[in-house]
Formats: sequence, structure tokens, C-alpha cells
Amino acid sequence: MAKNGAETGRLSLVFMFLFFSSCSCTGNEFELLLSIKSSMNDPLQSLSNWNLSLPFCQWKGIACDNSSHVAKIELSGKNLSGKIPESIFHLPYIETIDLSSNQLFGEIPINFPSCLSLRYLNLSNNNFTGPLPKGSNSQLQVLDLSDNMLSDKIPEEIGLFSGLEYLDLGGNVLMGIIPKSLSNITGLQFLTLAANQLIGEIPRELSMLKSLKWIYLGHNNLSGGIPIDIGEITSLNHLDLVNNSLTGEIPSSLGNLINLQYLFLYLNKLTGPIPRTIFSLKNLISLDLSENFLAGEIPELLNQLQNLEILQLFSNNFTGKIPNAITSLPHLQVLQLWSNKFSGKIPKDLGKRNNLTVLDLSTNNLTGKIPESVCGSGQLFKLILFSNSIEGQIPKSLSNCKSLKRVRLQNNQLSGELS
Ligand SMILES: *[C@@H]1O[C@H](CO)[C@@H](O)[C@H](O)[C@H]1NC(C)=O
Ligand SMILES: *[C@@H]1O[C@H](CO)[C@@H](O)[C@H](O)[C@H]1NC(C)=O
Ligand SMILES: *[C@@H]1O[C@H](CO)[C@@H](O)[C@H](O)[C@H]1NC(C)=O
Ligand SMILES: *[C@@H]1O[C@H](CO)[C@@H](O)[C@H](O)[C@H]1NC(C)=O
Ligand SMILES: *[C@@H]1O[C@H](CO)[C@@H](O)[C@H](O)[C@H]1NC(C)=O
Ligand SMILES: *[C@@H]1O[C@H](CO)[C@@H](O)[C@H](O)[C@H]1NC(C)=O
Ligand SMILES: *[C@@H]1O[C@H](CO)[C@@H](O)[C@H](O)[C@H]1NC(C)=O
Ligand SMILES: *[C@@H]1O[C@H](CO)[C@@H](O)[C@H](O)[C@H]1NC(C)=O
Ligand SMILES: *[C@@H]1O[C@H](CO)[C@@H](O)[C@H](O)[C@H]1NC(C)=O
Ligand SMILES: *[C@@H]1O[C@H](CO)[C@@H](O)[C@H](O)[C@H]1NC(C)=O
Ligand SMILES: *[C@@H]1O[C@H](CO)[C@@H](O)[C@H](O)[C@H]1NC(C)=O
Repeated sequence: MAKNGAETGRLSLVFMFLFFSSCSCTGNEFELLLSIKSSMNDPLQSLSNWNLSLPFCQWKGIACDNSSHVAKIELSGKNLSGKIPESIFHLPYIETIDLSSNQLFGEIPINFPSCLSLRYLNLSNNNFTGPLPKGSNSQLQVLDLSDNMLSDKIPEEIGLFSGLEYLDLGGNVLMGIIPKSLSNITGLQFLTLAANQLIGEIPRELSMLKSLKWIYLGHNNLSGGIPIDIGEITSLNHLDLVNNSLTGEIPSSLGNLINLQYLFLYLNKLTGPIPRTIFSLKNLISLDLSENFLAGEIPELLNQLQNLEILQLFSNNFTGKIPNAITSLPHLQVLQLWSNKFSGKIPKDLGKRNNLTVLDLSTNNLTGKIPESVCGSGQLFKLILFSNSIEGQIPKSLSNCKSLKRVRLQNNQLSGELS
């Protein structure tokens, strides 16, 4: 008897589970769609043909699969306003929902049914408020909720969206720490939590995400050091930790990130030198370490960064000469070294083999002359050298530099003028 009772109890549990999981994922698609329409304000009449005169597979913004079930709702940028009804997540065969760039508001229905076939959800650029949706959907691959007004903490349960490849929660008002459970999402390639109000340290567990290509955590209030373990994510292409309160030195392990093209650490409180390993990142296109407390010299090893287009080191405490190696970087377009303590002469051939558009070396302790070839690219439009000890004649070649729009040379020992 006792055994039987337990059996029955277990069966009814199974039954309840089946009942709940299936009930939330079925429904009359036609009626679900009409309820979605009725909950939205549609000033551009984008939903005007959502009516009985047409089968719903032909309604604007709807795409069906080959069994005539609704597979996609794509209504981006249609000025739709109103709330998003929970029923949208009850469409049993839905794979793609794109309602980005509208004026939808209210909370995002909080509990995703786990049986949902949804792969792609883009609600970015609306006016959604409230917390992030919870759930445990392992099929979802793309979740873009960026540029809304979502608040509260990022729940630890975010790790249950274990199938995500793309997660963008940037541009909201999320608070609290970055949950370690993100490290459960092992296929994640793109992670943006930028422009929120996150605090605490960058979890070293992120290094378990070996497929990550992009990490954007900028414009928060993250503190502590840059985890050494980030150097293990060798698939990384973009690493952006700008405008936080990060302290300590740049870990030399970042030199292992052989695929890195963009390294942005500006506006933090980083100290110490640039580790020499950084100069082995041969694929770097843009390196921005400006507005920190970095010091030391820039080594001639810089010549290894032959793909570099942008080098921003302004507002730090760098000393020593500007390395001659800089003249050998053929793609270099933007060089901003202002407000440091660089001394010695400006490399004589600067601009000759570079592709300079912006050169700002102001407020340093530079001597010597303005290089004859500084406008060698014919593209130079900004030349800012004020507050140094640069001397000699302003080169004639500058007068022929037709691209030049903005020049500041004051507070040096220059003679002659631009004609
Ligand atoms: C129904 O949709 C058709 C287009 O298929 C449109 O011409 C018609 O005005 C719509 N009817 C209503 C009542 O919105
Ligand atoms: C219908 O779609 C399913 C998957 O959605 C696919 O496996 C199947 O091959 C398709 N059938 C036809 C006839 O296209
Ligand atoms: C969409 O809405 C915005 C803001 O309400 C408005 O400025 C814009 O003109 C609208 N666009 C169209 C095409 O009506
Ligand atoms: C989401 O939609 C926005 C605006 O329509 C678009 O720019 C963005 O690329 C989309 N996100 C993804 C992951 O496709
Ligand atoms: C959306 O938010 C913006 C900025 O806060 C506001 O100007 C706009 O009126 C809001 N729109 C709606 C439909 O709530
Ligand atoms: C993360 O994964 C671990 C082990 O795989 C599991 O124990 C834990 O519950 C998961 N946490 C979340 C929040 O997904
Ligand atoms: C840095 O982030 C704060 C918010 O955290 C923002 O107000 C400020 O504009 C950002 N500064 C820059 C230069 O992006
Ligand atoms: C950032 O966090 C620090 C504490 O870590 C705090 O003192 C500071 O006020 C915060 N800054 C902002 C802009 O919230
Ligand atoms: C540069 O170093 C001096 C001391 O050597 C220090 O007072 C100053 O705050 C530092 N400035 C920056 C921007 O790191
Ligand atoms: C130089 O810069 C221009 C754009 O300003 C670009 O079109 C060109 O490809 C660059 N050349 C080299 C060698 O990088
Ligand atoms: C600038 O260089 C001069 C000598 O060339 C030196 O006397 C002075 O201390 C230096 N200033 C700084 C801020 O390094």
C-alpha cells in the first residue's frame, strides 16, 4: 500500500510537470497573435493586415515554418508601443522574436517557459523596465536586451541560459556584481554588460568561456584588478574594460591573447608599465590605454605591432623617448600621446611611412624639430604639439598639407609660421 501510494504520488508529480510544461507552450496561434496585436499601439499600421482576410503566415512581420506554424516575428523599428504580452512566448513553434527599436515598455514577461523553441530574442532599444527575465531555456542562442531601462541585479540564474552564444545586456541600469554563473554558458562568444551600474570585481571564472571573442564591460564601476586568467581566453578579439575603477597593473598574461585586435582599457586607475608581452600582440589594430596612471617607457618592440592603426596613451605618466619604431608602422593613423612626460626628439621620420590623420603630442617635454614628413600621408588633419620644447622652423611642407584642419603649436620655441 505504502509503495503504491508513493508510486501514485510520483506519477501525479510527473503528470503535473507535463501539464505545466506543455500548457505554457501550446495555444491557438491565431488567437495568440491577435492578442499580441491588441496589446500594442501601432501608429504606422504595421499590423493592419493581421486580420481574418489573410492566413497568418502572410501577415506582415510573420514567417512560418514549412508546417505553417509561426516561426518568426520580425517587427523591428515599427514605432510599436505598449507592453509585450506574455502570450508571445506561448507560440509553440516560435524561433525568432525581433521587436527591437520600438517604444515598448513595462516588464519583460518574467518566466520563460523552458520548453520554448525560441533561439533568437531581440528586444533591444525599447523602454523596458524591471528585472531581467528568469528561466532556464537552454535553446536560446541570442539574447539582446540592450538599450532599455532594465534594473535590479543580474540574477545568478542567468547561467541557466546555457545555450547562449550572444548575450547583450548593455545600456541598462543593472546593478550589483557580475554573476560567476556566466561561466556556465560555455558556448558564449559575445558578452556585453557595458554601460550599466555594475560593481565588484571581474570574475576570474570568465576565463572558463573559451569561445569568447568579445568582452565589453566598459562604463560600469568595476573595481579590483584585471584577472590574470583573462589571458587564457585565446579566442578573444575585443577586450573592452574602459571607464571603470580598475586598479593594479595590466597583467602580462594578456600577451597570450594572440587573436586580440582591440584592447581598450582607458579611463581606469591602472598603474605600472605596459607589460612587454603586449608588444607581441601582432594582430592589434587599436590600443587605447589612455587616462590611467601608467608609467615607464615605450620599448622599440612596438615595431612588432605592424597592424596598429590607433595608439592612444594620453594622460598617463609615460617617460623616455617616443620610440623610433613608431615610424615603421604603415597603418598608423591616430597617435595621441598628450599629457605624459615624454622627452627627447620627435622621431625624424614620423609621418613618412605612416598613414597619420591625427597627431597629438601636446603637454610633454619633447625637443627637436617638427618632422619634415609629418604630413607624408597627405591625410593629416589634426596636428597638436603645444606645450613642449620643440624648436626650429615650422617646416614648409606643412604649408602644403591641404588636409590640415586644426593646428596648435603654441608654447614651444618655434619660429616661422604656417602660410
Ligand atoms: C485586413 O487586411 C487587409 C489586407 O490584407 C486590409 O486591406 C483590410 O483593410 C484589413 N481589414 C481590417 C478590418 O483591418
Ligand atoms: C521542414 O522543416 C524541418 C525543420 O524545421 C526540416 O527538417 C524539414 O526538412 C523541412 N521539410 C521540408 C519539406 O522542407
Ligand atoms: C516614431 O516615433 C518617434 C517618437 O515617438 C517619432 O519621432 C517618429 O516620427 C515616429 N516615426 C514615424 C515614421 O512615424
Ligand atoms: C538587435 O536589433 C538591433 C536593432 O534593430 C540590431 O542593431 C542588433 O544587431 C540586433 N542584435 C542582434 C544580436 O542581432
Ligand atoms: C522611452 O524613454 C524615453 C527616454 O527615457 C522617453 O523620452 C520616451 O518618452 C519613452 N517612450 C515611451 C513610449 O515610454
Ligand atoms: C552552473 O554549473 C554547475 C555545474 O555544471 C551547476 O552546479 C550550477 O548549478 C550551475 N549554475 C547555474 C546558475 O547555472
Ligand atoms: C564613464 O561612465 C559614466 C557612467 O558610469 C558616464 O557618465 C561617463 O560619461 C563615462 N565617461 C566616458 C568618457 O565615457
Ligand atoms: C564606484 O565605486 C566606488 C567604490 O568601489 C565608489 O567609491 C564610487 O563612488 C563609485 N563611483 C560611482 C560613479 O558610482
Ligand atoms: C604621475 O606621477 C606623479 C609622481 O611621480 C604623481 O604625482 C601623478 O599623480 C602621476 N600622474 C598620473 C596621471 O599618473
Ligand atoms: C590609410 O588610411 C586611409 C583612410 O584614412 C585608408 O583608406 C588607407 O587604406 C590607409 N592606408 C594604409 C596603408 O593603411
Ligand atoms: C623637461 O626637460 C628639462 C630638460 O630638457 C628638464 O629640466 C625638466 O625637468 C623636464 N621636465 C619634466 C616635467 O620632466
